[in-house]
Amino acid sequence: MYKVALNFEDGVTRFITTLPMESVADAAYRSGLNIPLDCRDGACGTCKCHCESGSYEMDGYIEDALSDQEAEQQFVLTCRMIPEADCVVTVPASSEVCVRSQQADVHAKLTDINRLSESTLSFTVSGDQVRAMHFLPGQYVNVQVPGTDQSRAYSFSSMVNQDDESVSFLIRVVPEGLMSTYMAENANVGDNITLRGPFGSFYLRDIKRPVLMLAGGTGLAPFLAMLEKIQQDGSEYPIHLIYGVTNDTDLVEMGKLDAFASAIDNFTFSACVASEDSSWPQKGYVTNHMGPGHLHDGDVDIYLCGPPPMVEAVNSFMQEKGIQPASFHYEKFAASK
Ligand SMILES: Cc1cc2nc3c(=O)[nH]c(=O)nc-3n(C[C@H](O)[C@H](O)[C@H](O)COP(=O)(O)OP(=O)(O)OC[C@H]3O[C@@H](n4cnc5c(N)ncnc54)[C@H](O)[C@@H]3O)c2cc1C
Ligand code: FES
Repeated sequence: MYKVALNFEDGVTRFITTLPMESVADAAYRSGLNIPLDCRDGACGTCKCHCESGSYEMDGYIEDALSDQEAEQQFVLTCRMIPEADCVVTVPASSEVCVRSQQADVHAKLTDINRLSESTLSFTVSGDQVRAMHFLPGQYVNVQVPGTDQSRAYSFSSMVNQDDESVSFLIRVVPEGLMSTYMAENANVGDNITLRGPFGSFYLRDIKRPVLMLAGGTGLAPFLAMLEKIQQDGSEYPIHLIYGVTNDTDLVEMGKLDAFASAIDNFTFSACVASEDSSWPQKGYVTNHMGPGHLHDGDVDIYLCGPPPMVEAVNSFMQEKGIQPASFHYEKFAASK
């Protein structure tokens, strides 16, 4: 049995004890702490932390999740990390988002479904339990697909509107997808919806330097929630969003982005479409539109959210160009297994 000190981003330290051959992530879970976790299999990299001291064994993982260079620098995947001595591990998330008691089922009613384009819709749920929800802008919930025992993850695309106790989401309609089909074809206003969460370490940190936001498709959702918060609090640093989609029809919520650009002094954005058939003036991928003016010689916090191939592409682009931002936070909209 080894003692592991988990140092969270907000300065809080929690101690856990691992059982023989138990991973740090499993021991944390047993102790009521949900440190960031997704595949639990050494494949996704979501649980990457830094080991400040102590020794450990890494029990099988792929290089996409943790590079050799990162492993040499004592970065670890907590889902595969088996301590061999007492350890100190820095977790890149606030302790606030990791305390499991804050995650509970929220029962709500579907109050709006809005088909924004051929490929995308938004939905809104309301209720007194929604009013009481606490989450950080950028986080997600698991939404149960009505009539099934399945759930799917969706990022909040708004903060809670206290006036009508509502919160919204953005969803790409995946052909034959379980939730997509329910929302696009079968859902009715008034349906019961159960949400579980909040989850995730992709949330807006205090703004202490310029921010670059990179959104792919419905990966725009968490940024809409973040921008709502920034509109309330203001920012003395420039914030730029690059929103990339595949086809013209995937470009949604441009009116909201225009409204944020008018309301937030330091906020600018651009959008680009990858398809060669596009009539949108800016073509290509978000990486084609990331210039020195957005990167501030590395003095920038980068937030990235979108499908896994986009996250990989931006990661490779930054490595090739030798860009080392002050911080880099990402969320992959991986399909459920
Ligand atoms: C942390 C997190 C946050 C997420 N937030 C959002 C969000 O805000 N908005 C959003 O639209 N999605 C989001 N997703 C993805 C979402 O959870 C679902 O995976 C997606 O909506 C498909 O669910 P479905 O039930 O309609 O399709 P499923 O029944 O799960 O899938 C049907 C088929 O489509 C394939 N498929 C599933 N998803 C995709 C995809 N994205 N592209 C191509 N093929 C796919 C599956 O492999 C399967 O073959 C998020 C995922 C994660 C992990
Ligand atoms: S949770 Fe995916 S690598 Fe650990």
